[in-house]
Amino acid sequence: MEPAESTTTNTTTSTTSNCSSSSSSTQPQEGEIQPLVVARTQSVEARQLSEAEAAMVAATKMTVSEYHKSRFDTHARMFWDKFYHANKTFFFKDRHWLYREFPPLVEQEPVHTLLEIGCGVGNAFFPLLQANPTIEVYACDFAKKAVDLITQNELYKANASRCHAFVCDVINTPISDTVPANKVDLCTCLFVLSAMVQSKMPAAVSNIFNALKPGATLFFRDYGINDEAMLRFAKQRNSKLDENLYVRQDGTQAFFFTLEHVQELFQSAGFEQLSSVYVFTETINRKEELQVPRVFVQSLFRKPDTSAPSSS
Ligand SMILES: C[S@@+](CC[C@H](N)C(=O)[O-])C[C@H]1O[C@@H](n2cnc3c(N)ncnc32)[C@H](O)[C@@H]1O
Repeated sequence: MEPAESTTTNTTTSTTSNCSSSSSSTQPQEGEIQPLVVARTQSVEARQLSEAEAAMVAATKMTVSEYHKSRFDTHARMFWDKFYHANKTFFFKDRHWLYREFPPLVEQEPVHTLLEIGCGVGNAFFPLLQANPTIEVYACDFAKKAVDLITQNELYKANASRCHAFVCDVINTPISDTVPANKVDLCTCLFVLSAMVQSKMPAAVSNIFNALKPGATLFFRDYGINDEAMLRFAKQRNSKLDENLYVRQDGTQAFFFTLEHVQELFQSAGFEQLSSVYVFTETINRKEELQVPRVFVQSLFRKPDTSAPSSS
């Protein structure tokens, strides 16, 4: 799926090597390539497509029946559970780039509590437990198999007093049923909202908002509009489900965001936007020797703290 990035600096071009995923899946996924990240830039402007690419995307027909469309949505949890049964912990690479992009995660003072939404098998928070010995982590995913793989991990057992993984469908179940009120001051939401249909995203974002302490910051990263994976989907029959929403061969869904949509989604739930950009990476697909332009959206939001004294 999405490539993990290496430790390049913001808005510059540099050469580094990294891998996105190490899939053992039999299902071809858009991230099974092992990309070499050769450039990274960011912008508030979306990626411009060539005329031919734009025409191809516009011409892609939605040929999936209403029955199957609704099945991909209502059985989303089952498709992700199957994904983790097939891939176990071998698909995603650890997300070390996260500390560079969201430095509070590695601050030891003050002591932080992180909530990770849609944590998968822990590729973001496991390295963090080692990088930050004081952070406490709550991590949820609706795929029971993913949470089982986390709780079987030796690193989880060794950090049981400060690491709590739990099964939760963030669209339907209050996160605050599990996470204590007024505790979480950092939140990460990585490539999880893109797994939902657009109409269910507001419920998920409100649920997250309610689980956070006033003043908490949330780091969001997900697929951006006109990402190369989106163009690949657009070329395939029976993959477009809705505007900017596609389905993979394994039944999991991928939505591609604009900055405007992300801003509207989070601000409607009550968040204040601190920053929001498209992140562009150029990667080399070593298998096919192709240059692959990936596009992500990356934003930082804050839950307003109405009790804090105003600075003016
Ligand atoms: C593309 S994976 C990303 C995993 C992880 N965040 C990472 O970046 O390595 C999407 C994850 O979101 C989870 N997910 C999708 N919809 C969810 C929901 N409604 N509630 C909780 N988790 C969900 C899936 O089970 C899957 O683990």
